[in-house]
Amino acid sequence: MAAEKKIQTIGVLTSGGDSPGMNAAIRAVVRRGLALGMKVKGIRKGYDGLMNEEIIDMTARDVSDTIARGGTILYTARCAEMRTPEGQERAAEVCRKHGIDGLVVIGGDGSFAGAQKLANLGINTVGVPGTIDLDIACTEYTIGFDTAVNTAMEAIDKVRDTSTSHERCSIIEVMGRNAGYIALWCGIANGAEDILLPEKYDYDEQKIINNIIQNRKRGKKHHIIINAEGIGHSTSMAKRIEAATGIETRATILGHMQRGGSPTCKDRVYASIMGAYAVDLLAAGKTKRVVGYKNGEYIDFDINEALAMNKDLPPYQYEVARSLSANYDR
Ligand code: ADP
Ligand code: F6P
Repeated sequence: MAAEKKIQTIGVLTSGGDSPGMNAAIRAVVRRGLALGMKVKGIRKGYDGLMNEEIIDMTARDVSDTIARGGTILYTARCAEMRTPEGQERAAEVCRKHGIDGLVVIGGDGSFAGAQKLANLGINTVGVPGTIDLDIACTEYTIGFDTAVNTAMEAIDKVRDTSTSHERCSIIEVMGRNAGYIALWCGIANGAEDILLPEKYDYDEQKIINNIIQNRKRGKKHHIIINAEGIGHSTSMAKRIEAATGIETRATILGHMQRGGSPTCKDRVYASIMGAYAVDLLAAGKTKRVVGYKNGEYIDFDINEALAMNKDLPPYQYEVARSLSANYDR
C-alpha cells in the first residue's frame, strides 16, 4: 500500500518483550531518518507511552553508544488499551497531534497487530521483527534470537558441568512463549539428551524416564533435558523423574537472563539493516508493511499477509536434533 503524502516526521517505538539488538534498530531508524531529511521522534514505553504522549525528539547523538547495549533505550511495555478500538483511535490521534506521519514499530506479532490497526486508521506504519522467540512467520530472522540463544547455550554448558560432577539429571527450561526455536537450537548446540518442544511434545514422560535409565546403564554421567517454556512445569517434572529413576534431578529455569546482554554481531547487523530498511519503505511511500529476512535477502510484506502466515518448526532440523541425541549401542 502506498502512503498518501511525503513523510516528513517519523516515530519509532519498541513494544512487547525487549530483545538484544532493539537499540541497534532504534539507532538505525533515527540515523537513516535524519540522513533522509526527516524529523525523528522516539516514543517511550511502546503503545502505552504513545497514548500518554511520552514522545521525544531524537538526534543522532541520542543514539550514540547504544549499539552494544542490551534492552531498549526507549523502554517497552505491554498495553491492554491498544487492543481496544478506543485505544487504537487514541494512539492514531496522538500520532496526528505530534505530526508523526510514519511509525516504525519494533516488536513481535502482537505489536504488528497494533501497527496494522493504526494503518487502518490512516497512520503509515512499518513493523521490524524484534523478539527472542523467532516466532514471526514472515521472517527467518528476528532481532534478539541470536544473542538469546547464545546466552542460553552458555548457561546450559555451565549447568551441564555441575550436572556431570554430581551425576545428575538436569531439566533446563528456556524461553520462547509458545514456540520451541530457542529449545531446538540449544538442544542441538548443547548436545542435549532430550529436547521437549511445544510443537512436538507428546507428554509421554515414561519415554523420557526410560531414556534416562538406559543412558545411565550405558555409563552416561549426566542427562540434559531442554524443556521449552511452552511446556513448562520443569520443577514438578524433575520431582517425578527423580522419584521414578532414583537419579537426583534438578530443574533450572533460565528466565529473563535470556533477554538481556550486549547483542551479538549478527543481531547488531540485522537490526541495523532492518531499521534502515523500514525507514526506506516509509520514504518510498510504503505503509502497512513488515520487514523480514528470507533466503539471504531483506524483504517486506503486507502486514495483513504477514500476520496470516504460519510457521512450523523445520521438520528436518527437528529430525536431525532427535537423531543426534538418541542412544546408540554402537
Ligand atoms: P509481541 O509484540 O512481542 O508479540 P505482545 O503480544 O505482548 O508482544 O504485544 C505487544 C503489544 O502489542 C500489546 O501489549 C498490545 O499493546 C499490542 N497488541 C497485541 N495484540 C494486539 C491486537 N490484536 N490489536 C492491537 N494491538 C495489539
Ligand atoms: O516474547 C519474549 C518473551 O521473553 C517470551 O519468550 C516469554 O514467554 C515472554 O516474553 C515473557 O514475558 P514477560 O517479560 O512479561 O515475563
